[in-house]
Amino acid sequence: MTLPTTPVRTLDGTLDVPLVGLGTYALRGADGYRSLRGALDLGYRLLDTATMYENEDEVGRAVADSGLPDVRITTKLHHEHAGREEEFLDRSLRLLRVDVLDLWLIHWPPGGQARPDVWERLVAARADGRVRAVGVSNYSLAQIDELTAATGVTPAVNQVKWGPARFDAAFLAGHRERGVVLEGYSPLKSTDLSDPVLTGIAAEHDVTPEQVVVRWHVEHGVIAIPKSGDPGRQARNRDVAGFALTGDEVAALDGLARA
Ligand SMILES: NC(=O)c1ccc[n+]([C@@H]2O[C@H](COP(=O)([O-])OP(=O)(O)OC[C@H]3O[C@@H](n4cnc5c(N)ncnc54)[C@H](OP(=O)(O)O)[C@@H]3O)[C@@H](O)[C@H]2O)c1
Repeated sequence: MTLPTTPVRTLDGTLDVPLVGLGTYALRGADGYRSLRGALDLGYRLLDTATMYENEDEVGRAVADSGLPDVRITTKLHHEHAGREEEFLDRSLRLLRVDVLDLWLIHWPPGGQARPDVWERLVAARADGRVRAVGVSNYSLAQIDELTAATGVTPAVNQVKWGPARFDAAFLAGHRERGVVLEGYSPLKSTDLSDPVLTGIAAEHDVTPEQVVVRWHVEHGVIAIPKSGDPGRQARNRDVAGFALTGDEVAALDGLARA
């Protein structure tokens, strides 16, 4: 069964990506491949990988074997591979079995620094047509500004650890002001899924706390990439188009960061 389609965000003014994708950390080997194929069958159209996850081959095979033309793939340059950008992009493209990568991120600020020289290599790959959109992960707003000031190009995305317990209105607004799409990782791991505020809202909508967490991301326009290898949990995590949170509910969940 294909579940309802989820809303999209547009990166760099041209690339549409779904607001709910699949995290793929630890989905490796034959079991990982099966989970990835299953997720694509369920309707996932955004897969988040990284060279560090050592599963680009499984992700690439799953997407190629699915025959689906519209799957968006994110991968990341490991920060320790700064200076070897072309080598690792070639490797990722080969393993992922694509000529053009949808979204390429710097996984962490290399050595804790913004490193505009590394960012320039990502921007060049986009100019060459080998990557559709480029961004960063685990960057501060100050580090994003440093990249923009040095190159004139602002990252399309910043992928950070995010969830109700980590809500930061100024950080979110800062991304919006700069035109950077916030993408949240570890949405479930970063959340106390038994918190009564969360379970109460879930009961109100007859959904699971995990679905409320994912829907909360959608309400804020933040991309969520929950990881699951289990078909039932994959299906539920993505099935968030059938309900909406009220403004009060969103505010109550935002408040978990202060709890
Ligand atoms: N940029 C970065 O530095 C960075 C860092 C960490 C993660 N990430 C990305 O973000 C993705 C998601 O983050 P994450 O994997 O750390 O954590 P997560 O998605 O918050 O949580 C994943 C864990 O929750 C379980 N789970 C998933 N759905 C569930 C459900 N409905 N009910 C109960 N348990 C459920 C999963 O187990 P099952 O698989 O058994 O369901 C897994 O153990 C990663 O896979 C990766 O792609 C990026």
